[in-house]
Amino acid sequence: LFAGETEFIKGVVAMDGLPDPDRVEVCFAGRSNVGKSSLINALTGRKGLARASNTPGRTQEINFFTAGDIYVVDLPGYGFANAPVAVVEKWQRLLKQYLQGRQTLRRVFVLIDARHGAKAVDEEIMSLLDASAVTFQVVMTKIDKVKGKALDESLAKTRAALAKHPAAYPELILTSSDKGIGIATLRAVIAGIEG
Ligand code: GTP
Ligand code: MG
Repeated sequence: LFAGETEFIKGVVAMDGLPDPDRVEVCFAGRSNVGKSSLINALTGRKGLARASNTPGRTQEINFFTAGDIYVVDLPGYGFANAPVAVVEKWQRLLKQYLQGRQTLRRVFVLIDARHGAKAVDEEIMSLLDASAVTFQVVMTKIDKVKGKALDESLAKTRAALAKHPAAYPELILTSSDKGIGIATLRAVIAGIEG
């Protein structure tokens, strides 16, 4: 799936700009700076494909990429306030409309920082996905930055949160875009969705 050409299609700022829903789609959601764009780059093996940055709020549009015959979508982060309120509200509204209203969206990968575990804003998104019956799966990011007891605690906290959400896949995928951990697993999961 990710072996062939991966291509940036377009960045979308309003629902009417979405590409035609003519193929399977998966997207990456999560708090600002959690590592969504970096993960897409790791999956595709192309460092500069999705713009990643240390500045939270880097991704400001719904960015569509093709991988094989599916769309892979990089979303703006949620829970980020260091921008004009009106701008943040516009993104958040678009994000919600997209997550609730996209027929071809087959799975949302909800990214959670392995150092912190699921937070209240993550659970808000999970509840929204429950309500619209969109299947989601949690991907823990930056596992290179935490180990031992701290990691166990954040995983336990995240699993406890997941147990409350009917639209959730129970299994977590542990990743590090920096170290290449869990990337092959995630590729295989996405390839499985395709069929
Ligand atoms: P927004 O677009 O602002 O919502 O952020 P994002 O979720 O797309 O995060 P992005 O991929 O831009 O990464 C944010 C920062 O985290 C960057 O400085 C990345 O280099 C760093 N980062 C991402 N993944 C990892 C990882 O697996 N390990 C480590 N150590 N750092 C990472
Ligand atoms: Mg981003």
